[in-house]
Amino acid sequence: MKSEETRNEKGSPRYIALVTIIAALGGLLFGYDTAVIAGAIGFLQSHFQLDPVMKGWAAASALLGCVVGVSFAGIFSDRLGRKTTLVLSGLLFLVSAVGTALPNEFSLFVLFRMLGGIGVGVASMASPMYIAEIAPAGVRGRMVSVNQFAIVTGILIIYFVNYFISLGGDEAWNVATGWRWMFASGAIPSGIFLILLIFVPESPRWLVEKGHNAKAKDILAKVGGVSYAESELRSIEASLAQEVESLGQLFKTGWRRVMFLGIALAILQQVTGINVFMYYAPEIFKKLGSGANTALLETIVVGVVNLSFTVVAIRTVDRLGRKPLMMIGSAGMFVSLIAMGLAAQFQVISLWVLLCILAYIACFALSVGPVTWVILSEIYPTRIRGRALSVATFFLWSANFVVSQTFPMMDENPALIAQFNHGFPFYVYAAFCVVLVLTVWKFFPETKGRSLEEIERFWDIPSSDSKG
Ligand code: BGC
Repeated sequence: MKSEETRNEKGSPRYIALVTIIAALGGLLFGYDTAVIAGAIGFLQSHFQLDPVMKGWAAASALLGCVVGVSFAGIFSDRLGRKTTLVLSGLLFLVSAVGTALPNEFSLFVLFRMLGGIGVGVASMASPMYIAEIAPAGVRGRMVSVNQFAIVTGILIIYFVNYFISLGGDEAWNVATGWRWMFASGAIPSGIFLILLIFVPESPRWLVEKGHNAKAKDILAKVGGVSYAESELRSIEASLAQEVESLGQLFKTGWRRVMFLGIALAILQQVTGINVFMYYAPEIFKKLGSGANTALLETIVVGVVNLSFTVVAIRTVDRLGRKPLMMIGSAGMFVSLIAMGLAAQFQVISLWVLLCILAYIACFALSVGPVTWVILSEIYPTRIRGRALSVATFFLWSANFVVSQTFPMMDENPALIAQFNHGFPFYVYAAFCVVLVLTVWKFFPETKGRSLEEIERFWDIPSSDSKG
């Protein structure tokens, strides 16, 4: 009894860490499920005899699911609760893992990929939202990076899994069966996620919204102690009273500028080409002369570099600031992409292209990858954050869909090959890096160390609008 009282007085950092890690598994599944295609796509192409448009569709169909998923994530998490929404996404991952492994028809495969994509779209909103709502304010920012870390960890794990599965047989076995195991393997992390979700509580913020204040207070006391629970409950009530009602309002009021900038940043994170490497890396390596297994091994190196430099970003973002990291990172991506394009165009040795790809990944992971999400979670004031973030995430997934669908169409286009070999797409992504550097430099405030009120003042919103 005494120890129970002591715990309630102080709260439990271990409890909040555990709950955050479980919720971040949604981010891990997001990485796992979107990047599984990298190992499978070549075998899928041979198995189903896909042309470049259909090959793009095999990769991008899941992303269309993400666009759908993120559109409904807000409604689900409002109506069903955050926890139930996470369970729903876990179930979608599970059904999709099994469903994509079995079909003999391409259309059925695409259907199950889309279903998994809906799960990813839902999780890409629900996991960070849940973490932000349950974590105390002092650690909220760091928690956003935990989510990005979970995404890149998921990507690296599936690269390893793909590689080891591909060793299970020869090319013919991989074309007939290997790719099925790659997708089916997703059932394991989905199952673990679903089981662990039993142990997390509902989001206190949602409980307050639904009038279950006593329950919310109990959970908050477990997180930060009794007095923390009381003050947090009051601030949740105050911020709920301030929320902007409709999406339309966001674009009509003085928020329009910050809305468009958030959307621009989300789109630019994608059109600078990252997921071409996340989803098609083994294909690129094969074109440069690697065998199927070696290409998957080289892809693991891509995943390791991605994860390592994400850690560097997490450690430096609060010291160096968002803008310098973003500008240095995207300038580095520009140089790497131009070098890559030239190497592909003039057919320079493949080691050079590999180095360019790794330099590009390092620059992305150091900056544009995590910092985009940090900026998006900071530039909107509390009263519009949830809705504004879902709009930006919707555009992020839509841009990802367009890039992933069009890469094989550009890369395998005979007219473009005649002029640029396989260099053309890289020049396109390089051009967008220039737009990204200029946009961040000209239009974004440095948000490092600033309070939300200071950031709000930067946007200079007329006070009638800022009240929503
Ligand atoms: C992006 C994802 C990408 C991942 C790669 C994230 O920030 O939003 O689209 O796959 O980084 O590390």
